[in-house]
Amino acid sequence: MNRIYQFIDERLHLGPLISEIANHPVPDHANLLKTPKAIIYCFGGMVFFILLLQVLTGVFLMFYYVPSPDHAYASVTYIRQETAFGGLLQSVHRVGASAAVVMVMLHMLRVVLTGSYKNPRELNWVVGVFLLLLVAGFSFTGYLLPWDQKAYWATTVGVNMIAGIPLIGGFLADALRGGSEVGALTLTRFFVIHVMVLPALLTIFLAAHFFMIRRQGISRPL
Ligand code: HEM
Repeated sequence: MNRIYQFIDERLHLGPLISEIANHPVPDHANLLKTPKAIIYCFGGMVFFILLLQVLTGVFLMFYYVPSPDHAYASVTYIRQETAFGGLLQSVHRVGASAAVVMVMLHMLRVVLTGSYKNPRELNWVVGVFLLLLVAGFSFTGYLLPWDQKAYWATTVGVNMIAGIPLIGGFLADALRGGSEVGALTLTRFFVIHVMVLPALLTIFLAAHFFMIRRQGISRPL
C-alpha cells in the first residue's frame, strides 16, 4: 500500500492537500471527545452521513426498481419480498428520508440558536436554504416512486399545492406532472429528478457548504 501511495504521491504531490483536509483541528467546543455538549455541532455531519446512506441504499434499490406505472408497485414488492436484504434496504431508505428531514431541522435550529447565520456566514445560510429545499425535493419525488394509493394521492395533493403558487404555479405543476393529471409521465419525471437532477444539485451545494465551513471555520459559542 505504501509503495502504491508513494508512486501516486511522487506524481501528484497529494501530501499537502491530504494534510490540509485531514489534519484540520476540531475546535474544543465542537469536539465530542472534549465536551458532550458538542453533540449539537455534529448534527450537520449526521445529516451528511444519512445522505451517504441514502445514496448507498438508493443505488441498490435502483438495480430492481422499474419506473413505469405497470411495474413500479410490483418491482417494489419484489424488492421487499424476494431480493436478499431488499426489505432491509428499502426500510433503511424510507426511514432515512424522514431522519434526514428531522436532522436538517435540528441542524438549522442549532445554527439559529448559536447565531451562526450572522456575518460572515450569511452566504452559507443561503446555501443551506437550498440544501433544505433539495432534501424536501428528494422526499417529495421519492414518495411517488412505490406507485401505491398513498403515493399517487399524496403527489396529486402536493402538485395541486404547487399549482397554487402565484404566476408560475400552473406552469410548474404541468411541467412536473407532464400533463393535467398525475400519470406515467409524472412517474418518469419524478424518477429522473430523484436519481439524477437532485443528486447533481446536492453535490454542488454540499461542496459549496463544506468549502465555506472550511474557509470560515465553525462559529464560536455565544
Ligand atoms: C443537506 C443538508 C445539510 C448538510 C449535510 C449540512 C452540513 C453541515 C455541516 C457538517 C456543518 C458543520 C457544523 C455542524 O455540523 O453544525 C454545517 C454548518 C452550517 N450549516 Fe449546514 N448542512 C445542511 C443544511 C443546512 C441548512 C438547511 C442550513 C440553514 C438554512 C445550514 C446552515 C449552516 C450554517 C450557517 C453553518 C455554519 C455554522 C457554524 O459555523 O457554526 N445548513 N452544515
